[in-house]
Amino acid sequence: MHLFLTFILLLIATTTTTAIHHDYVKLQLIHIKPFKTPSDILLFDTHRIHSLHHRHSLKTPLISGASIGSGQYFAGITIGTPPQNLLLVADTGSDLTWLKCSACRTTNCTSNHPPNSAFFPRLSLSFRPTHCYHPSCQLVPHSSTHCPRPHHRYHSSCVYDYSYADGSTTSGIFSKETTSFNSSSGKTTHVPNLSFGCGFQTSGPAVSDSGFEGASGVMGLGRGPISFTAQLGRRFGNKFSYCLQDYTYSPPPTSYLVIGGGHDVVSTNNNMVQSTPLIHNTLSPTFYYIGIQSVTIDGVKLPISPSVWALDEFGDGGTVIDSGTTLTFVPEPAYRQILTVMGDRVKLPKLSELTQQFDLCFNVSGVFHTRFPRMSFELVGDSAFDPPPRNYFIDVAEDVKCLAIQQVISPSGFAVIGNLMQQGYLFEFDNDSSRLLFSRNGCGGGPRS
Ligand SMILES: *[C@@H]1O[C@H](CO)[C@@H](O)[C@H](O)[C@H]1NC(C)=O
Ligand SMILES: *[C@@H]1O[C@H](CO)[C@@H](O)[C@H](O)[C@H]1NC(C)=O
Ligand SMILES: *[C@@H]1O[C@H](CO)[C@@H](O)[C@H](O)[C@H]1NC(C)=O
Ligand SMILES: *[C@@H]1O[C@H](CO)[C@@H](O)[C@H](O)[C@H]1NC(C)=O
Ligand SMILES: *[C@@H]1O[C@H](CO)[C@@H](O)[C@H](O)[C@H]1NC(C)=O
Repeated sequence: MHLFLTFILLLIATTTTTAIHHDYVKLQLIHIKPFKTPSDILLFDTHRIHSLHHRHSLKTPLISGASIGSGQYFAGITIGTPPQNLLLVADTGSDLTWLKCSACRTTNCTSNHPPNSAFFPRLSLSFRPTHCYHPSCQLVPHSSTHCPRPHHRYHSSCVYDYSYADGSTTSGIFSKETTSFNSSSGKTTHVPNLSFGCGFQTSGPAVSDSGFEGASGVMGLGRGPISFTAQLGRRFGNKFSYCLQDYTYSPPPTSYLVIGGGHDVVSTNNNMVQSTPLIHNTLSPTFYYIGIQSVTIDGVKLPISPSVWALDEFGDGGTVIDSGTTLTFVPEPAYRQILTVMGDRVKLPKLSELTQQFDLCFNVSGVFHTRFPRMSFELVGDSAFDPPPRNYFIDVAEDVKCLAIQQVISPSGFAVIGNLMQQGYLFEFDNDSSRLLFSRNGCGGGPRS
């Protein structure tokens, strides 16, 4: 009898889990190209990476302090009751989801915040500020004196304060709201109690319009417990996937962010799927680290010591996969090797002067088809990520193609696989099994090269 009951309970538990995890949310990712020239990209990336490093000094291990505005891929969010629609930067390099907020009682009270450019909490019945004594308030950075004496406690909201390396800041009230999605089951699913930052003050270049290109906040997809994916994972399964389509195609194919399990593409094309462990860095819990073992170019392994790629005991080094950085950054010794070998193998005239800050550029005038060398990152877990050359040789001017890889900026920095390098691959970040799955065949549609 006891066994039988256990069996039934197990069955119920399994069925429920399966039912939940087959439901998922699919959001369109909108690519916005805010850059006029490739050197703007580099400027932006450099800026962003400095901000990513800045988190070390924040001393708030649960939050990255990372995201600096424009990641280039935006996703919509439907939030509040009645629902308000906003566009957010989708960022795997930060945890906190925050929105620009307006205290107005009508959507037309200020020209600073026209409708859909900010969230209007006063127009939502489900908006709940988090109390400053609530344990979740400890998950966001704030000034130490923000919670007043106990007799005020019933009126004190959790005020968060987020600053970026370039001096940009966003601060406001850490809050809870109901978000809605059209999930794969066809139903509109309401997820109550999404924790997010309601940003009443935002200032500085990182979050201003030029860096932000019309976004109203950041959707933090990082690995920490308050990220959007961590919170939705409790409902849909602790994984998410995306496929960044090549935006140089015309018209560009649609890119999607899928939150939750049961995503058919990864599971049905199993033989085409590779995987590598996601490495946890306790000193930087926001980031998705992967382990590079070696790099090959046209099948030849470059003489780079494995220690070049390793995470050290201070939490420095390692390689992060990031949707919000455009170019790819590798440590100096690896950079030199890649540059030398690529330079030798491409039989095209090199441009001698520095072109748009890139060290290796070719004149492709009159060249209709060149076979560029094939680079492959050999990863921990016997897998290989070998993106097509168009992911790392980019057009920077008429008839000029450059190697879109840069050297890691600071000596304590980490390598970054940027979004250009990720194009055309489906990536699934599975937090429960701590694995990154990837497949060249998972994007569906869209040409390949
Ligand atoms: C703002 O909207 C409210 C109703 O939503 C309307 O009554 C009011 O006249 C509008 N004000 C302006 C300046 O348009
Ligand atoms: C769900 O889909 C309907 C119809 O396409 C649309 O009107 C609605 O805004 C969507 N809701 C959400 C939360 O995306
Ligand atoms: C979610 O919020 C509702 C109020 O909107 C509250 O009653 C409920 O307890 C909350 N649930 C969780 C899991 O925090
Ligand atoms: C991922 O797992 C870790 C524990 O390994 C947990 O602390 C974290 O909240 C999880 N993050 C997400 C995004 O699910
Ligand atoms: C590339 O080569 C063509 C012809 O060989 C030449 O006319 C052109 O100026 C070169 N472009 C650059 C940027 O050097």
